This record gives sequence, structure tokens and C-alpha cells, in this order.
Amino acid sequence: MSTALGIRRLNSKYASGSISEKMAMLQKNSAEVVRHLGLVGNASFPRLISTTVSLSEPAVPKAATSKEVFEREYKSTAHNYDPLPVAISKGEGVYMWDVDGKKYLDFFAGYATLSHGHCHPTIVEAMRKQVGILHHTSRAIYHDKMYEFAEYITKKFNFDKVLTMNTGAEGGETAVKLARKWGYRVKKIPENKAKTIFAHGNFWGRTIAAISSSSSPTSKDEFGPHVPEFHNIPYNDIPALEEKLKDPHVCAFMVEPIQGEAGAVVPDEGYLKKVRELCTKYNVLWIADEVQTGLCRTGKFLAVHHENVKPDILILGKALSGGVMPVSAVLADDPVMEVFTPGTHGSTYGGNPLACHLGIVSLESMTEGKFDENAKKMGDLFMSELSSRLDRKKVPIVRGRGLLNAIVVDPEQIDTKYATIAMRDRGLITKHINEKVIRFSPALIITEEQMRAGIDIIVDALNNFKMPAK
Ligand SMILES: Cc1ncc(COP(=O)(O)O)c(C=O)c1O
Repeated sequence: MSTALGIRRLNSKYASGSISEKMAMLQKNSAEVVRHLGLVGNASFPRLISTTVSLSEPAVPKAATSKEVFEREYKSTAHNYDPLPVAISKGEGVYMWDVDGKKYLDFFAGYATLSHGHCHPTIVEAMRKQVGILHHTSRAIYHDKMYEFAEYITKKFNFDKVLTMNTGAEGGETAVKLARKWGYRVKKIPENKAKTIFAHGNFWGRTIAAISSSSSPTSKDEFGPHVPEFHNIPYNDIPALEEKLKDPHVCAFMVEPIQGEAGAVVPDEGYLKKVRELCTKYNVLWIADEVQTGLCRTGKFLAVHHENVKPDILILGKALSGGVMPVSAVLADDPVMEVFTPGTHGSTYGGNPLACHLGIVSLESMTEGKFDENAKKMGDLFMSELSSRLDRKKVPIVRGRGLLNAIVVDPEQIDTKYATIAMRDRGLITKHINEKVIRFSPALIITEEQMRAGIDIIVDALNNFKMPAK
């Protein structure tokens, strides 16, 4: 059989059915595709695939149960996470299914990356299309997706330029490097004296720089020495900020408009406006870390839009790819971004054609689908229902904005980890942050019916919670 005929036959197999059915068939039949390409060969891949890799048998025996997944993963991976005991093998929209076939509502959405939900057909299609055309070149040469993405995103968020990276932590590193260089070149801070200010409770990853600004001992202890001249002030504290910014060696203040990993901590109304004013007054760059709050999560396209202010440097990540791969972006105007010159910063994968294409498609689909409006509507419903229906002696605080929410419990009455297990048992997945806080960040495409089903589970699990025997 010729390759073309083989692939046509495979295509006709996938012509009917839903996207997820097609994906499942493709997965099942990937060995078949490879066999056609490999055995018959073609001008570009003469026989290489089938002679080097056989995909007809799984590389390792498949785990039969969730329990087996937990045990095998525990044995062969580093223990740098403490996962909720649930092993997922399929996702669609706001739903996930575990290895044992049980269905769950996903109220966590991969640390707020899956704003489109699992396997959104537009994202899956865009990825499949672009990956078959061009997926990577490096920035050593030009490709035809970078300028498209750059023009699109800079126009959308009103900045002169963008710098593309992969993860949110790299976005933070990029912003801090940019601010330091600007500090030396433009603000004329003496060499190696630049100071960067952060807020207590910040989270922007686990790199050496990110943990150097952290106030969490678990993240930080025994990983020193830390990056010098990183200084922390309390979050939501304008007098403390002004005091710090008076120091002429300060190049930047980096802050989340709403603190995500600290547990959806919303600052006072007017905080962001005041931050903007003070940074301008003292000639300090304001870096807004919108890796978690950005892209409609809090009910506006950016969280800084709640106060109609523009930071000097904006960091985006997480949902920027539609949740299928790490894509981050740092935006700034020319007087800041132009301090970077060739060789001063970069990343092998940053800004690859697949990332750029997904960036445009995910932003377009968020815009067309009015993700911001739905996040606000569903977030308001979530907050008001939890506030009125939860036993407030057990759960004194319900907070957040849009679909970035958290509850704070009385730890004498609720063990947060066991509470998430009680939710899991009732068919909802989310994660506790610490012994007092549980976070919720479902997909922004969630419907009212799905939201109400989730609220019922959370209320039932918490109001009827019994502390485990010690
Ligand atoms: C505000 C913020 N910045 C940065 C990061 C780091 O992103 P990543 O895990 O993609 O490096 C996170 C991750 O949760 C975050 O919440």
C-alpha cells in the first residue's frame, strides 16, 4: 500500500465522531500511522521511523488501577510534590476521568492553566495543524509565526514589544533581568547595586531567583545562597512600598495584582493605582506578574484592568497556550525592552512556531468566547453561594475574584488535605495550599449547571466534614 493511500484510509477512519473520539482513535492507531510512514518510507523520512522505534507495544506495562499508578510513580520519581491521590487518564472540558473510569469535575484546572478546559477542540486542532507544518526552529533564524504573534499580543495589551519564553518562572526571571539592566543603563544605578522589591506571600516559581524572593521556608530553606538585593515588603501596604521606593538603587517592584498561590489574596480597592503612581513618582519599574491572574482568570482580560492601570512590564503565562504547553510572554514598551541586545537573554524553545501559533489562537478564542465575562459571572455565583451556604464557623473566609478563589478554614475543624479527599470522593478535584487554605480555579468555560454541581459538592464535603482520627 502506498503511504498516501495508507494515510487516506486512516483519515477516513477519523472522519466521523467527536474530537475526543478522534483523538482517542489517533492515539490507539499511532503505531499504525508510523508503520505506514516507516515501512513504506517517503522522501523526507526514508524508513527511519520504523527502524529506530517500535510503537506497536507500550514501552512499559500499563498500570491497571489508580493505586498502581500512585505506587509506581512514587517509586520512580522525585518526591517534590505531594499529589492528591487521583490518577487521571482523560480530560474533556471541565471533566476528567481517572484510570478506574471515575468522572470528576476539575475545579483546579492544572494550577489555573486550563482556562479553555481539557482538549478544547479549537486548541487541539490548532496544535495538530501547526505541529504538522513547523514546530521549532530556534530564534537563531526567523520563522513566520513570531511576527504574527508579536503583532497580535502587543496590540491586544498595548505594549511596543514582547519577549517570548516558556514557563512563568522564566517570565519572572526575564522581567527582573530587564529591570536590572534598565536600572543600570537608564536610571544610572551604580553597577551591582540594583535592588528589586517584592511582596510577602509572592509566588513566581521554584528557580533560585524565584525562591530568593519567597517568604515560604519550604521553598527557600537549604537552597541558599540566595540572590542578593531582593527585598520583601508586606502585600497591600502602600506606606511600606513608598518607604522602599525612596531608595535610588531600587529598579523595580514586582507584584501579583491578586496573589494566586498565597490563596487568592485580593488587595484593597485602589492598591494598583497607588502602586502605579508611586513607581512613576520614584522612577521605578512596576512589574505586574499576571502569570496566574491574566488572560480573563479574574473576570477582566488582565487583573490590572480592574483599576485601569498599565504596568511597565507585564508577565503572562499559564493559559497563554490554551493549556497544552508552557508558553510565557513578557511585554514592555521600547524604552525598557530596548535595553536587551543580542546575546543578553534568550531560550532555545522560547517563541517557537507552535507556541506562537497557539498564543494567537488561545487569545482569539478567549476573546471570542468572552472568557472574561463568564469568569466574572461564574465567579460571582461561586462566591455568593459558598458565602451563604457554607458553615461559616468551619469556613470563616471565602475570597477571590472571578474564577481565582480560595477558602480559609478553621484548622481545628477542617483538615484541608482530607477535605480535598472528601471532595474527590464526591467527584470534584481541587488542591489545598496549606493547613488553612483550599484553592479553586476551574476552567473559564464552565457552565452554570457545572458550577452549581461543583458548589453542591464543596458545600456537602465541608459542612459534613469529620476530622480524621489522630
Ligand atoms: C503568579 C505566578 N507567577 C509565576 C508562576 C510560575 O509559573 P511556572 O510554574 O509556569 O514557572 C506561577 C505559578 O504558579 C504564578 O502563580
